Amino acid sequence: MKPYIICHMLGSVDGRIRQNIWGLKDAPKYFEEPASKIKADAWLVGRVTMEEFSSKKNPPLPAGRFTIPKEDFIGEHKAKAYAVVIDPSGKCRWDTNMVSTEHVIEVLTEKVSSRYLAHLQQKNVSYIFGGKTELDLTLVVKKLYALFGIKRLRIDGGGHVNGSFLKAGLIDEFSLVLAPIADGTIGAPTTFEAEEGYGKRKATRFRLKSVRRIYDDFLWIRYEVVKGKKR
Ligand SMILES: NC(=O)c1ccc[n+]([C@@H]2O[C@H](COP(=O)([O-])OP(=O)(O)OC[C@H]3O[C@@H](n4cnc5c(N)ncnc54)[C@H](OP(=O)(O)O)[C@@H]3O)[C@@H](O)[C@H]2O)c1
Repeated sequence: MKPYIICHMLGSVDGRIRQNIWGLKDAPKYFEEPASKIKADAWLVGRVTMEEFSSKKNPPLPAGRFTIPKEDFIGEHKAKAYAVVIDPSGKCRWDTNMVSTEHVIEVLTEKVSSRYLAHLQQKNVSYIFGGKTELDLTLVVKKLYALFGIKRLRIDGGGHVNGSFLKAGLIDEFSLVLAPIADGTIGAPTTFEAEEGYGKRKATRFRLKSVRRIYDDFLWIRYEVVKGKKR
C-alpha cells in the first residue's frame, strides 16, 4: 500500500519557488496557511529544503568505530505526525528528533556511514533505507505507509524532490498557491525539476479540482493528476 500523495507549493507565475527577491511580507503564511488545511499524516522535503529546519550548529558525528547494520530504525517518539527528508548521503545533522510537532524520518541510501547512523540513533531520529546507492521512491513511500502508518503524505518541495516524485508517477494531487509575482531568474529552482532536456518522458496532465482567490491577488489551485489512459 502507498500513501495518497499531495504535492503543495507556492510558485510565481513563471514557476519559480525561491522567494528571496519576491518582497512578500509574512512570507511563510502564503505557503503554511493553505498547507495546514490539507489533511496529511506527514510532510516530506528534499535535503536542501530540510537544511532550513535541521541543526544550524552542525554537531560533529560521534567519534569511534561503529558497525551498524543498514536496517530501518524507528526512534522513540510520541508524535502523531512526521517530517520526512530525502537525504540520500546523510547530510542533515540534528539536535532533536522533532521539527515543530513532527517526528523526523530520514530517507537514506546504504551509502551513509555507520557514524552517521550512530548520530541519528543518539538523537532518536528515525531512518529508513530507500536503496543501495539510488533511491527507489516507490519503495520509500510503501515503507512510510507500512512502518509509520502514513496514509496521506504532503510533499512540500523543493523542485528536485517534487520532480523526482512526479517522474516516478507517485503524485496524486497538486496544490499550487500561485503568487502574483514574475520572478524571471534564469536557473532558479522551479516547481518541478525532473530531468535535463527533452527525453522520451511525457509531461504530466492535471485536472482542475478547485480554485480560490486568497490574500487578494493569490490563487489557490488544486489539481488531480490525470493517470493512465485517461490522459
Ligand atoms: N515556494 C515553495 O513552496 C518552496 C517549498 C520548498 C522549498 N522551496 C525552495 O526550494 C529551494 C530548494 O529546492 P531544490 O530543488 O534546490 O532542493 P530540494 O528538492 O529541497 O532538495 C534536493 C536534494 O534532495 C535530495 N534528493 C531529492 N530527490 C532525490 C532523489 N530522487 N534521489 C536522491 N536524492 C534526492 C538530493 O540531496 P543531495 O544533494 O544531498 O544528494 C537533492 O540535492 C530552496 O530555495 C527552498 O527555499 C520553496
